[in-house]
Amino acid sequence: MLEVLSHPLITHKLTLMRKKDTGTKDFRENLDEIAELMAYEVCRSLPTRPIDIETPMGKTTGYELSKEVVIVPILRAGIGLLDGIRRLVPTAKVGFIGLYRDETTLEPVEYFAKFPKDLDQAIVMVVDPMLATGGSAIDAINMVKKRGAKNIKLVCLVGAPEGVKAMTKAHPDVDIYLAALDDHLNEAGYIVPGLGDAGDRIFGTK
Ligand code: PRP
Ligand code: URA
Repeated sequence: MLEVLSHPLITHKLTLMRKKDTGTKDFRENLDEIAELMAYEVCRSLPTRPIDIETPMGKTTGYELSKEVVIVPILRAGIGLLDGIRRLVPTAKVGFIGLYRDETTLEPVEYFAKFPKDLDQAIVMVVDPMLATGGSAIDAINMVKKRGAKNIKLVCLVGAPEGVKAMTKAHPDVDIYLAALDDHLNEAGYIVPGLGDAGDRIFGTK
């Protein structure tokens, strides 16, 4: 399942991020705000269970989230989505996957992995601003599946059709959420029109 969350606020903020003159501070702040807005939509499908409670007026049945949420940012750029999602799901646990794309082969290279336990029981949100060839996200999802994750959502800001196709083929069971589905990848593997190198723009490294 692919869902493009084209809410006007998300689209407006994403447009600010795309502009090449937008600096690190504004880029990061808009990403953080979009993450929160996307989380609201992504969480629509979270399961709940009934719970008996007592209000000051009497007894009633309320509903509480019935599954733990685990957010897994792909380092580095995925970190930019973490706080916005955690503001909406403050009880979420966090795992980390360190991956970078080799600039010549475009293949993902793993350098870190740390997860909370019981991934098999949780809703696992793998988050990264960019879904380009899809190699990094596919690898990240292989890593969480290896630890038992079954209910997985991939939350990205901008996706390329090539990445969506590769992801759907590799992991047809994973729901994909994007703020925008862009046109294509260029020969260097960058999303066009995209927003450039997300990690460098978040952390000011170029
Ligand atoms: C970027 C991005 C994704 C990956 C997407 O990370 O944040 O993780 O590229 O590309 P793909 O779909 O072709 O794999 P990058 O490798 O630049 O690392 P960084 O986050 O540390 O900057
Ligand atoms: N990684 C990025 O940060 N941007 C792209 O356009 C593709 C991969």
